[in-house]
Amino acid sequence: MLILGGSASQPLAGKVAKELNQEAGRLEIKRFPDGEKYLRIHDDVKDQDVVAIQSLYRTPDENIFELLLLTDTLRDLGARSITVVVPYLAYARQDSRFYPGEAVSSASVARLLESAGTTSFITIDCHLHRLGDVAKVFKIPARNLTAMQELGKYAREHFKARDPLVIGPDEEAGQWAAVVAKELDAEHTAFRKVRVRKEGMTASKVEVDTGDVELKGRDAVFADDIISTGGTLAEAAKACKKKGARHIFVLCTHPVLADGALKRIKAAGALRIVGTDTIPSPISKVSVAPVIAAALKS
Ligand code: R5P
Repeated sequence: MLILGGSASQPLAGKVAKELNQEAGRLEIKRFPDGEKYLRIHDDVKDQDVVAIQSLYRTPDENIFELLLLTDTLRDLGARSITVVVPYLAYARQDSRFYPGEAVSSASVARLLESAGTTSFITIDCHLHRLGDVAKVFKIPARNLTAMQELGKYAREHFKARDPLVIGPDEEAGQWAAVVAKELDAEHTAFRKVRVRKEGMTASKVEVDTGDVELKGRDAVFADDIISTGGTLAEAAKACKKKGARHIFVLCTHPVLADGALKRIKAAGALRIVGTDTIPSPISKVSVAPVIAAALKS
């Protein structure tokens, strides 16, 4: 198996290769003067099983085009199979046509990757709100892994939380809270989130309903897939503080961290905020490399 990392995920590809006791392949990427990308694979890929890792963060359009170029080149050079690993799958959340004429981006991205020669697909904690399962978006075999066990292990070793309650900040995040809770041998629950989004707006206002949870003197550990603006977790953290929570810890898989997100959540009372390296960031303390390597082995 040959592991190749696109320019958005080279350190992660190196870590995945290391987990598999090998070195990552060598991909050369340069730019032509007009801004186009030049791509060259320095390994013989003919009849090889190749894994291409490329996360779609910060410049998702550029990253996906590079991934398509890589995949198509691998097919052209005779790779036997091409497993595409996209740790953070941008475009996943637009999985329905909410208003007439909108692109269903998740389906478009899946079709593009398939048509470029991808033979199987892997992503991590992909939040397809309405479809639920990434296998419903692709025609090729597609799997959604979770980083929540790794995040839970980190929390166990570093947070030392007192009588923790693990919380999904909305109902969909209840599944992730359950995984983290198992690692911490703790209780878990999920809040109810209401998003107010009007036509023409890309961001929305968040309101959180905590139900009847008791937090006086306890620590809250949040588990969510994404921190984007930080609005969800800031509202959830404020609600916990009102209920008398002692410390608030936050775990997330994808630290998108739009401007001011960390500040917003800290101002709401969070003591520690930890994410993974699906998106490199100042809070990326946990690597998803072991999760990806284990999936590639199975
Ligand atoms: C959506 O429901 C997700 O699980 C996240 O909670 C959400 O995307 C986070 O976005 P933001 O940080 O902008 O509130």
